Amino acid sequence: MFEDKIKILLIEDEEFDVRRVKNTIEPFEGNVRIADIVSNGKDALEILGNSDTRFDIVIMDYQIAGGIMGEALIHKIKEIDQTIQIIVITKMTLNVTDYNFAQRLLAAGAFWYCTKYPGDIENYIYQPTDFILSIFNAYEKSKLERERDRSNQKIKNNIEEILRQKKIVGESAPIIRLRDEIGRLSQNDYNVLIRGASGTGKELVAYNIHYRSQRKFENFIIINCGSIPADLVESELFGYEKGSFTGADKRKMGLFEMAHNGTVFLDEVTELPLQSQVKLLRVIQSGEIEKIGRTEKLNVNVRVICATNKNIEEEVKAKRFREDLYYRLNVLPVFVSDLKDRKDDILLLADYFLTIMSIDMIKPKPVPDDSAKEELRRYDFPGNVRELKNVIQRLLFQDEMEISAFHVKAALGIFNLSEGMNSEIDFEKFYEKEPLTLRDMENIIREKYFRHIRKMTNSDAETARILGLAPSNYHRMAKDLGLK
Ligand SMILES: Nc1ncnc2c1ncn2[C@@H]1O[C@H](COP(=O)(O)OP(=O)(O)OP(=O)(O)O)[C@@H](O)[C@H]1O
Ligand SMILES: [Mg+2]
Repeated sequence: MFEDKIKILLIEDEEFDVRRVKNTIEPFEGNVRIADIVSNGKDALEILGNSDTRFDIVIMDYQIAGGIMGEALIHKIKEIDQTIQIIVITKMTLNVTDYNFAQRLLAAGAFWYCTKYPGDIENYIYQPTDFILSIFNAYEKSKLERERDRSNQKIKNNIEEILRQKKIVGESAPIIRLRDEIGRLSQNDYNVLIRGASGTGKELVAYNIHYRSQRKFENFIIINCGSIPADLVESELFGYEKGSFTGADKRKMGLFEMAHNGTVFLDEVTELPLQSQVKLLRVIQSGEIEKIGRTEKLNVNVRVICATNKNIEEEVKAKRFREDLYYRLNVLPVFVSDLKDRKDDILLLADYFLTIMSIDMIKPKPVPDDSAKEELRRYDFPGNVRELKNVIQRLLFQDEMEISAFHVKAALGIFNLSEGMNSEIDFEKFYEKEPLTLRDMENIIREKYFRHIRKMTNSDAETARILGLAPSNYHRMAKDLGLK
């Protein structure tokens, strides 16, 4: 029945009673083992706190010599290990019908208590089958509690892992302010409207609010309002009952129902059709879902976080977005600023993406030189952090260990090769009267191209590599062109 024996710590200061407890348990010693015996509370706490043995159950005499005993001892034991179960033995004369006393013990955290047999029953402390049954039950409870602790710990680890992956990187003033705001928003339960341009990190903010809030153990459901066809929005959001329309052969749970007790993230909220906006308003006002084909209301408790990169006030003015809904959603507005307005974060973000992506791609992490850093800082990133992330990915695909301004420009798409290809080269500006021989024209272009590439790089070696020349050849040719 038990893989391991149930391990008991016995706290008892009278030899006679120790013997009686042992006798009572003896017929079951295949399953139960008294792993240690101490005579006072202090020693018991010492052993529980420091021993390698994990005890399942403490059996303690209520009245023992020494300082700490009774309810105080129960509290201290539970502080050390909440899952240990405590069985208290009391003197019969004291407590046989004292319900308050029993109540106090249980409130303090005891699992069970029993009254000692009178002293003239020498062999047993209590009726053996009852005593042993309470031990088995206590053991089952400790096992359940330990399993629960383990799975709670797993969920906690998962949440920590999500927060690690959804980390908001940056030390600029707007990002520090944003992190503070997220801290406050996760302490309360109001609806939030996140605003900001595309790629600034709005979804990241929504994740951080949910997984730091009270609702973190519940679902976080992301709904992209722009990607659901208008005629399906209501059934997706609110679900339907079986048979409510042709083709409804099963009941469907809506996303709001799935998010019950958790958080719904409505991305691109202004894309919601007007008639769905009415229903959303009702959910927010009364917690009631109008499920298609259902007459009674369904109640849900969800927190709504929305995001938009549009000017939502304009949408309200143009009557594309309901004003009453706007006020309901915009209880706590959060703004995520453009990357160009927090340039100090560019290099931090670039380094962060270089680290995590090179790990993902199982590559050594390349190092940007000063010219590369300057180039990154200079750029405005109209696509914000998402664009920076893509640029870093392109840089990693270039497979260079040292990243220079040249590589950054290439990754940013600043040299637009195809554009150059399409427009004709204005050869006439290279000569005065007579057209040049091929060799002279080649030399002019070579020289200009050598200079151009050299400007983007830090060393001749790098220039040579980009030009596809061996360093010695590069040197010779540069000399021929009068560059050296
Ligand atoms: N401060 C940041 N730290 C780390 N990663 C970030 C940060 N900001 C954005 N990102 C990353 O950039 C990408 C874009 O962010 P996100 O999807 O949150 O932007 P968004 O504002 O929701 O964009 P859109 O409006 O286009 O939906 C994501 O991969 C996100 O993880
Ligand atoms: Mg988004």
